[in-house]
Amino acid sequence: MNSISTKTSIVYFNSEVYSELNNYIKTKNPSKIFILVDTNTHDLCLPQFLEQLESGEVIVEVMEMPNGEEHKTIDICMGVWEALSEYNADRKSLLINLGGGVVTDLGGFVASTYMRGITYINMPTSLLAMVDASVGGKTGVDLGALKNQVGVINEGEMVGIDTSFLSTLPQNEMVSGFAEMLKHGLIYDKAYWNTLMHLENLDISDLDKLIYDSVIIKNKVVSEDPTEQGLRKILNFGHTLGHAIESYFLENGDKTSLLHGEAIAIGMILEAYSSTKICGLSDEELETITQGILKTFTKVDINKDDQEIIIDLLKHDKKNSHGVIKFVLLEAIGKPKINCVVSNELISEAFDYYSALR
Ligand SMILES: NC(=O)c1ccc[n+]([C@@H]2O[C@H](COP(=O)([O-])OP(=O)(O)OC[C@H]3O[C@@H](n4cnc5c(N)ncnc54)[C@H](O)[C@@H]3O)[C@@H](O)[C@H]2O)c1
Repeated sequence: MNSISTKTSIVYFNSEVYSELNNYIKTKNPSKIFILVDTNTHDLCLPQFLEQLESGEVIVEVMEMPNGEEHKTIDICMGVWEALSEYNADRKSLLINLGGGVVTDLGGFVASTYMRGITYINMPTSLLAMVDASVGGKTGVDLGALKNQVGVINEGEMVGIDTSFLSTLPQNEMVSGFAEMLKHGLIYDKAYWNTLMHLENLDISDLDKLIYDSVIIKNKVVSEDPTEQGLRKILNFGHTLGHAIESYFLENGDKTSLLHGEAIAIGMILEAYSSTKICGLSDEELETITQGILKTFTKVDINKDDQEIIIDLLKHDKKNSHGVIKFVLLEAIGKPKINCVVSNELISEAFDYYSALR
């Protein structure tokens, strides 16, 4: 698979990853290399990564954070900034983020702000981070339960996608990443969506090409609109309601927690339903989308009280302007429409549609 160039970065795949990374280190000669991992990637990915890393004379320090979305916080950033400072990181230091989307989002933010910015490289280890989070330069942390409220857009030097890391990823995390792949099909490429629909199961051996295709889609969108003035908003399909649902489940101790992709899957069904009422998505395509998503994602119980709080959380969405909540909807599969306004009544109706599904 050929590498993919982004505006200011480059994505390498499998066989090229370590030769390019080692070459980068040799050429740029960073003063120190820091590797940020979480509890799981420390145990399951770091040994393999260190075996391949050729750091030469450059000192390598490993920093470990706890795993999970609840740790994508400014407090954890403080710990990482302090560790960088204690280990005398300077402006020529390099941070390598080895982990899922939490590590790449938080590590990218830490690097972008430490000493007004040091270079960083993303080594995604979850499916979700490979197809989405590690590419495109969005970095940041949650504010309480509110998703990604603090952050910057700043691309790393490179992304290295080594799909062999997926061999230890739990199945529910694979499924979570699959949601963002489905989204890429829905917003950009009906043929890609159809391919995903005809997969028998999520087998690692089929995944390399599909991951590559997803990164191509994400990169095309981001390259045209790096700062999200227009087109890049399409990547938020399913995320307006999805993020509010994710925040609600994150905050509510009585609920079982929902993974990012699981919340986005619900958001995509709700926003597809709204699309039929507002921008002409056909009932037939709504049915295809709904059944396609439910083939992989178990339905979640969301009652009327939950819905009210979720609707209230929408006021924190980053696409809002002047108090108006803006959605990305679909005119058809592969044809998104940005800046759509959806009334609270229609959102409730969409929840009713979701609740009635079998
Ligand atoms: N920046 C962006 O453009 C963007 C896009 C989409 C999502 N995101 C963010 O990404 C995050 C979700 O990413 P995620 O699903 O990767 O979450 P995550 O980082 O929490 O990883 C999921 C779980 O898998 C574990 N894990 C990761 N790699 C593993 C491996 N190879 N083997 C075993 N376990 C492994 C992690 O330790 C964690 O417990 C969210 O915070 C979301 O907001 C960002």
